[in-house]
Amino acid sequence: MTIVEETEEVTDELVAAVGRLVGQLSSSSPPATKVELEAIVGSPATTLLIARNGTGADDAVIGMLTLAVFTIPTGVRAWIEDVVVDLSARGQGVGEALTRRALELAERAGAKTVELTSRPSREAANRLYRRLGFQARETNVYRYRLGDR
Ligand SMILES: CC(C)(COP(=O)(O)OP(=O)(O)OC[C@H]1O[C@@H](n2cnc3c(N)ncnc32)[C@H](O)[C@@H]1OP(=O)(O)O)[C@@H](O)C(=O)NCCC(=O)NCCS
Repeated sequence: MTIVEETEEVTDELVAAVGRLVGQLSSSSPPATKVELEAIVGSPATTLLIARNGTGADDAVIGMLTLAVFTIPTGVRAWIEDVVVDLSARGQGVGEALTRRALELAERAGAKTVELTSRPSREAANRLYRRLGFQARETNVYRYRLGDR
């Protein structure tokens, strides 16, 4: 049984689990430190959702998602980032459960839209998001790398 929880306390076990999951998401990103995870959990703008295989706090962390909610002049907006499910637990609805919870939280916070990006090569992710009702936007996505100046 999968449960999804909003992280309230950053334990050493959580830091290790998030590190493992980050490694399955990006080969270039170093694992987040405890201090960095505490900043996510302590901010009113971000929620770190964790999926566990079971109901107890001791049960294994098998997935994560970070939701950011913020207000701009055109309304409350939300972004989903860093979605990853452990290789051993994929294809069992864990990604769906995490994303659905994020949508609920965003709706409760008054967000008008929830956005995310996913490159086409991430086939499972694109399939999941479309199945849940996300629609591709006609827009250009840009990135400016601040280290390049
Ligand atoms: C994307 C990801 C989070 C989905 O997690 P999950 O728990 O496996 O998700 P679900 O079980 O809820 O759904 C997975 C869907 O992808 C499909 N899928 C799984 N592997 C696939 C593959 N190789 N190619 C195409 N579709 C695939 C499943 O069939 C399922 O779709 P369906 O129910 O319509 O058949 C997980 O695959 C993952 O961590 N991938 C690596 C990191 C990543 O790409 N993150 C997203 C960043 S935007």
